[in-house]
Amino acid sequence: MNSNKKTPLTKLKDPLFETHKITVYMKREELNHPHIQGNKWHKLIPNLQVAIEQHKTTLLTFGGAYSNHIAATAVAAQELGFKSIGIIRGQELALHPEKWSHTLQQAAQYGMTFQFITRMAYRQKSTPSVLKQLQSDYPKAYIIPEGGSNALAIKGFEPLMQQIETQSPNWTHLLSAVGTGATLAGLIKYTPFEICRSKEAQNNPRTILGIPVLKQGDYLKPNIQAWLEDTPAHPWKLLTDYHCGGYAKTSEPLLQRMRDFEQTFDIPLDPIYTAKMVYAFYDQLNQGVFKPGSKVILLHTGGLQGRKLEGTRQNKQG
Ligand SMILES: Cc1ncc(COP(=O)(O)O)c(C=O)c1O
Repeated sequence: MNSNKKTPLTKLKDPLFETHKITVYMKREELNHPHIQGNKWHKLIPNLQVAIEQHKTTLLTFGGAYSNHIAATAVAAQELGFKSIGIIRGQELALHPEKWSHTLQQAAQYGMTFQFITRMAYRQKSTPSVLKQLQSDYPKAYIIPEGGSNALAIKGFEPLMQQIETQSPNWTHLLSAVGTGATLAGLIKYTPFEICRSKEAQNNPRTILGIPVLKQGDYLKPNIQAWLEDTPAHPWKLLTDYHCGGYAKTSEPLLQRMRDFEQTFDIPLDPIYTAKMVYAFYDQLNQGVFKPGSKVILLHTGGLQGRKLEGTRQNKQG
């Protein structure tokens, strides 16, 4: 698997950006793989490399019925010759395959087998005793946490940041949607420092902006900080007011912004993650946050698999 497929950095043209004298790009990571797209691709690659090194034969992971990560893991497993097991939240689905989401159906088509567990059991999934039991039940399994978020996943963003650096070495702002914060930690950790200290950057230092899609996103700060370890970090901020009611919730202004963006730039978004990031960007722009001369990059983190065939249930991805 190519860990650093080059994706376009598309310049977005809008008279509003000219009025504010800023340049705006979208980094098109939804195009990095047809199925394991966006941040999932970057998070999985280093984990898959270790699974291969450890001679594991199965990938085992966790998720809800609409999880982008479950779909991505199933596809990656099939491409690399692993078996795959999904531990899925919602025991009631075990006896009702007709109620499976498009995500679960797709994962099953890619060979993933499921264990459906109660919501209460699901909450215990990361405890040492549960993980120990799973490892003993499946000794040849490589266990990946929910959402694919672990220290190795963060390393997966190094090639992406190198790529962005060659495509636009003088960017000033990078925006990304945030779930667990692992993606944001990777972006912060692998943003080169030399550029940030350059003369040019002194008036407009590089800033990385994360947009949590869940309510009260400030609780993510210590997790992100822990993933950064002692890495000297660029200024970064969580913009916690753009969750639109919480995870998988939408609002009419959000959906309107999504439709406008898609129509103007012909780039599809998903309502759970990337649309909230774009919504936050426009609001910050209207508040005058970006100084003239800013070069803003909006990171497309993928998530489009959940839009297929889901109709109105598309707002439940994870
Ligand atoms: C499309 C998309 N964007 C962003 C995120 C957030 O990633 P993270 O959990 O690393 O913060 C996710 C997480 O599942 C996602 O599916």
